[in-house]
Amino acid sequence: MARRFLVTAALPYSNGRLHVGHIAGAYLPADTYVRYLRATGADVRFICGSDDNGVAALKTAREQNRSVEELTAYYNECQRRDFAGLGIHFDIYGGTHQPAYVRIHEKVSQDFFLRIHAKGFFTKRTTRQLYDPEANQFLPDRFVRGKCPHCGSERAFGDQCEECGRAIDPQTLLNPVSLMSGATPQLRETVHWYLRLDRLQSKLAQWLSSKKDVTAAGAAWRATVLNQSLGRIEAEGLPERAMTRDLTWGVPVPLDDPDAKGKSLYVWFDAPIGYVSFTAALCERRREGPNAYESWWRDPDCKVVHFIGEDNIVFHAITWPAMMLATHDSDDLQGVRGEYQLPHNVVANSFLNIKFPGQEEQKISKSRGLAVWIEDYLKTFEPDPLRYYLTAIAPENARTAFDIDDFIARNNGELLNAFGNFFNRTITFAHKYFEGKVPAAGKRDKQDEEQLQRCREAVVKTGGELEACRFKAGLSEVMALTRAGNLYFDATKPFMSRKTDMEACGRAINVCLQTCRTLTTLISPFLPATGENCAAMLRLGADYPKWSAATDELPSGQPLAEAVILVKKLDAKELFSEA
Ligand code: 2FM
Ligand code: ZN
Repeated sequence: MARRFLVTAALPYSNGRLHVGHIAGAYLPADTYVRYLRATGADVRFICGSDDNGVAALKTAREQNRSVEELTAYYNECQRRDFAGLGIHFDIYGGTHQPAYVRIHEKVSQDFFLRIHAKGFFTKRTTRQLYDPEANQFLPDRFVRGKCPHCGSERAFGDQCEECGRAIDPQTLLNPVSLMSGATPQLRETVHWYLRLDRLQSKLAQWLSSKKDVTAAGAAWRATVLNQSLGRIEAEGLPERAMTRDLTWGVPVPLDDPDAKGKSLYVWFDAPIGYVSFTAALCERRREGPNAYESWWRDPDCKVVHFIGEDNIVFHAITWPAMMLATHDSDDLQGVRGEYQLPHNVVANSFLNIKFPGQEEQKISKSRGLAVWIEDYLKTFEPDPLRYYLTAIAPENARTAFDIDDFIARNNGELLNAFGNFFNRTITFAHKYFEGKVPAAGKRDKQDEEQLQRCREAVVKTGGELEACRFKAGLSEVMALTRAGNLYFDATKPFMSRKTDMEACGRAINVCLQTCRTLTTLISPFLPATGENCAAMLRLGADYPKWSAATDELPSGQPLAEAVILVKKLDAKELFSEA
């Protein structure tokens, strides 16, 4: 039976375009993982879509004087294009409020809410919140500005001060002003439904603790994910959290209760449910039946893996699993068939900084124009140099920086000089001296066997790293084999032996071609377009990404295609002509 995985990448807010930080954070590692899993024969569904509900989109729509429907539809489409341009291929790219998905998303979200409600995991509470008396509505925290109670900055938002970075209780903001109307907000009573995280915390802690070690059931989770989530539980415990909002843009609260009128589910409640509703939409699109999504979500044989950025850790490692636990009948944390399965892994990267030539490393900032936008990048460049660089410097354990000079240097130095050149010199040589065919393997000596052994080892090591979601380490195994290939080429000197010993020369080129064969499979999850070009040169069949075939030998006499340029030399000037 094939292994089964449901892989998700964080739903981006549909109020802006994507930059390199987003891609490095969640989407590229997720795509690499999915490609790898499929290469091992696993059955995988790869789910994403836009996070349309909540305040983020509303606020941008207001600022840009557009309807929120039009804004989110526009960015949903832009994001779809950006991802496709980078070779990031989801099985479905939905959107929590997009016309094609909103019906199913509302149904799945409301069913989820009602199930938790029926299980008694919500408390209905009255609280006080800022209200705009001119606009006649409660104000989301982001719609209030005022003076920061911590640092005195005049430009703090109701939830956070961008000056000092501290979180703010909106009721403590000084001289608050509504961004809706300019009115001074008043405190008014309102009612919300709070998820009883306090009642779920010991189960969550037990479950998270089980992820500390490598077990038969899977790799250990990243320390950053466990530190943030378990650390939060151990340090502060989990208070109840409101899962509804006074907002009409979102999924309506499905309760027959006058207090629920005009309220929506909190966007962080419905967003992760988007993973489920888009899976259901995908099953529907494939005409697999109304409950087919259950085989991905309610079956312990399917592993659910979430890829996210560091700011999403608490929601994916605490709140979302808590929501699922609150729907369970059983106490079994290992997963009972028929109930929502807790994530097998939550893979989070840290943020990516940016460093422009001649400047200091800085945080990526949309408002300060400090970003490399995917749209701009793709106007000039192929996807693979970016995929290569973002994996090579992946912020897997700590922040790293996208350094423009380093991006160029590594493309030209590693990808081109090492990888591209190894293929180029090998295949060109075969064309020049062996009629464009794989020369006879001949009688291999120790050096040849050692190189082939390195190929076999690289397949195992790269696979091991990818299984454990260590993408940077996986790529470095591929590059180590590339360097070994070049060293082997240099040491066996086919350019000399061709004058004196054609048999020895052919043997060396044969081993180099076998190394290229292995590299083609190994590079494919990371750089799919490059892998395709490699496969075309070696005239491999369509199943070249198949991991188990990575060391299948190219038969002697097999014709090769002409060498093509795998990697182009890049120049920083092309990338940032305006920067
Ligand atoms: O941080 C973000 O961009 C959120 N829109 C991520 C949501 S992930 C999931 F829960 F949908
Ligand atoms: Zn402040």
